[in-house]
Amino acid sequence: MRVTMIGTGYVGLVSGACFADFGHDVVCVDKDKSKIEKLENGEIPIFEPGLEALVAENVKAGRLSFSLDLAASAPEAHAIFIAVGTPSRRGDGFADLSYVYKAAEEVAEHMNGYTVVVTKSTVPVGTGGEVESIIRRARPDADFSVVSNPEFLREGAAIEDFKRPDRVVVGAEDERAKKVMRELYRPLFLNETPIVFTNRATSELIKYAANAFLATKITFINEMADLCENVGANVQEVARGIGLDGRIGPKFLHAGPGYGGSCFPKDTLALVRTAQSHEAPTKIVEAVVAINDERKRKMADRVIAACGGSLENKTIAVLGLTFKPNTDDMRDSPSLDIVPALQTAGANIRAFDPAGVNEAKELLRDIEYCEGPYETLDGADAVVLITEWDEFRALDLERVKSLLKSPVMVDLRNIYNPAEMAERGLEYHSIGRPASKKA
Ligand code: UDX
Repeated sequence: MRVTMIGTGYVGLVSGACFADFGHDVVCVDKDKSKIEKLENGEIPIFEPGLEALVAENVKAGRLSFSLDLAASAPEAHAIFIAVGTPSRRGDGFADLSYVYKAAEEVAEHMNGYTVVVTKSTVPVGTGGEVESIIRRARPDADFSVVSNPEFLREGAAIEDFKRPDRVVVGAEDERAKKVMRELYRPLFLNETPIVFTNRATSELIKYAANAFLATKITFINEMADLCENVGANVQEVARGIGLDGRIGPKFLHAGPGYGGSCFPKDTLALVRTAQSHEAPTKIVEAVVAINDERKRKMADRVIAACGGSLENKTIAVLGLTFKPNTDDMRDSPSLDIVPALQTAGANIRAFDPAGVNEAKELLRDIEYCEGPYETLDGADAVVLITEWDEFRALDLERVKSLLKSPVMVDLRNIYNPAEMAERGLEYHSIGRPASKKA
């Protein structure tokens, strides 16, 4: 099938490359000239493991190309995907749909023959209907269907998530559109991946409900972690103990500094606003948003407490800045709350992240950025671990101890074992587990 993908951001690029890998002819279109030039030169503008090779293979096979010009591919396309950004609208938290609607206008101008227009961007309930109206108004005679097909891609594991998803959700109102979608996802049908066909509004809501539920799960275990700290319990064991119940499941029960990233904060807020405006407020999700915001702000207090109540003239080593490992994405990362709060408390910051430093430099000022974990620790009064990159999981603890002025580690991701840390002579503070004093 011939596919046009509008938007070469995270979702568009990963989806476009994976559809090409399924054997379809895909053209990824973007208005950003420098992005298209980079892609044409084999450069990938985002950090995603495996994507560069996947793009290169499919370009070489002639199934994937990039273009500034929608008019060149849209008339021939069987399906046109809209995969543009839907950021939080400044001021009110509603999703900003202006890019989606602009794309719909352009699709109307260039499509030809029966075309399935698919919204891949995360869009509030009702957006598919609006996209349909925009196209219908511009082209009363056009032959088309509008389908919702949300993505469930995790950064850092996006290709795996696209090719081996738990499910594919398709919101389509007519049989012709369903047939095209079935054909597009044919390799997954052969794999027996569940494909949930539903109506458009339901599909749009599934995406928000999934993200809000996962954000709720994380927030729940974070609150349990706080309780564990006060009653001498261990949150990892609580998570295991409840997660083995098949009705609950073990995933997304890692306590930490609060969720961040490009989806959960934006989508939970957008769901709250949509629900309020439809007079069915989601009080649970409202609480999740507020608790998570507060949690991120309060994380610095743990570091201050671990350093004896004051950071005046102290140096704190920060390991990990991105909102999670295997990405360079800093959007809504807990580090954006934690680092400035440490600075306000008087600390000098030395920091290292394996991929996020370029992005971080724009957002976090007055920091000494280092080249690796050990350089960061050199002479610091304490180390705080914010992101669980693999390379922080097996640090040489003797070296850590000898480099730090005082052997204090605040681990916001629970990647070390408290008893072992005590044995090694480190004062170790983690989340929802008893702190260990050095032996
Ligand atoms: C998420 C969804 O997982 C994906 O399906 C959706 O399409 C986009 O949003 P992503 O933002 O890439 O993906 O990351 P994810 O792995 O879900 O983590 C989100 C945040 O939650 C991170 O800050 C992570 O550290 C945090 N998290 C996740 C926890 O604190 N605990 C957990 O148990 C899981």
